[in-house]
Amino acid sequence: TGLNAIAKSIGKTYFGTATDNSELSDAPYTAILDNINEFGQITPANSMKWDATEPSRGQFTFTNADAIANLAKKNGQLLRGHNCVWYSQLPSWVSNGGFNAATLTSIIQTHCSTVVGRYKGSVYSWDVVNEPFNDDGTWRTDVFYNTLGTSYVSIALQAARAADPNAKLYINDYNIEGQSAKTTAMLNLVKSLKQQGVPLDGIGLQGHFIVGELPGNLQQTLEQFTALGVEVAYTELDIRMSLPATQASLAQQQKDYQTVVTACTNVPGCVGVTIWDFTDKYSWVPNTFSGQGEACPWDQNLQKKPAYQGIVSGLEA
Ligand code: G3I
Repeated sequence: TGLNAIAKSIGKTYFGTATDNSELSDAPYTAILDNINEFGQITPANSMKWDATEPSRGQFTFTNADAIANLAKKNGQLLRGHNCVWYSQLPSWVSNGGFNAATLTSIIQTHCSTVVGRYKGSVYSWDVVNEPFNDDGTWRTDVFYNTLGTSYVSIALQAARAADPNAKLYINDYNIEGQSAKTTAMLNLVKSLKQQGVPLDGIGLQGHFIVGELPGNLQQTLEQFTALGVEVAYTELDIRMSLPATQASLAQQQKDYQTVVTACTNVPGCVGVTIWDFTDKYSWVPNTFSGQGEACPWDQNLQKKPAYQGIVSGLEA
């Protein structure tokens, strides 16, 4: 038993979780994190991001990122690298840099090849580009797009491919799990990159949901992506609710976890599901959405919630 054990038994590559360095001194927490039967894959929630790895130009720091990579290795867990190029948690030397196109190209290439290269051979997949689109499907006008147009995506993917030819290269975003303008934009981007021969292996659907408000057509959306020749994964699943939780909202959350996981179970090209930390104790949600929380399958006290059984049912669908 255990989520990863069940996921593997139905032919998935992993069931995983995000984690963060500050949590690793919590022994009751790590006792669950380290259990390969629950989690066959981990993602660093912060420590591989640009502000953490290259806080000033050419000065790379990998202490925290290495700690997560080493933990995955020790536990025999797959590692998802997160991420190379993102508008957020981007140091100001990049975001305010005023670099011309040639210089920013070189900055992206150096960053992606150094970070991806550091973990060459030990990463299952990399979120090379994170959150390129606005919710209306237009491109996010960050420093990368404003300086390089859409070409920054292929610049980053090519640099990542050269640095670790065996890592699966992903573009990762939220609000692309159902049918939306943003989903269409991502589908069109995949088509266009594939036509141009740009290396791209997967699309990560983050899966930050609200209890009782799942988008429809989850499975159909996964199938639309895999039909274009990429694999898919839910990379940051959590399902938040208004606080305080009630028996009814916890029961609805169980159903919603089951629905999302079932979609992945039913699509052969959906390789796995990663929850964005497994316990409410360390969820990002209450810090961002005031009055909301309890988004994870384990509660504040590291006890399994009904949501856990929802995941099991979804894997066994
Ligand atoms: O590192 C500083 C620390 O020095 C300081 O004392 C502390 C005080 O607030 O802040 C620490 O930084 C925080 C960082 O997490 C590390 O804990 C930031 O304030 C906080 O904003 C940051 O939040 C992260 C968030 O990304 C930022 O965008 C979350 O932990 C992380 O879970 C979240 O993850 C993102 C994915 O990368 C992309 N998709 C959405 C997802 C949820 O927002």
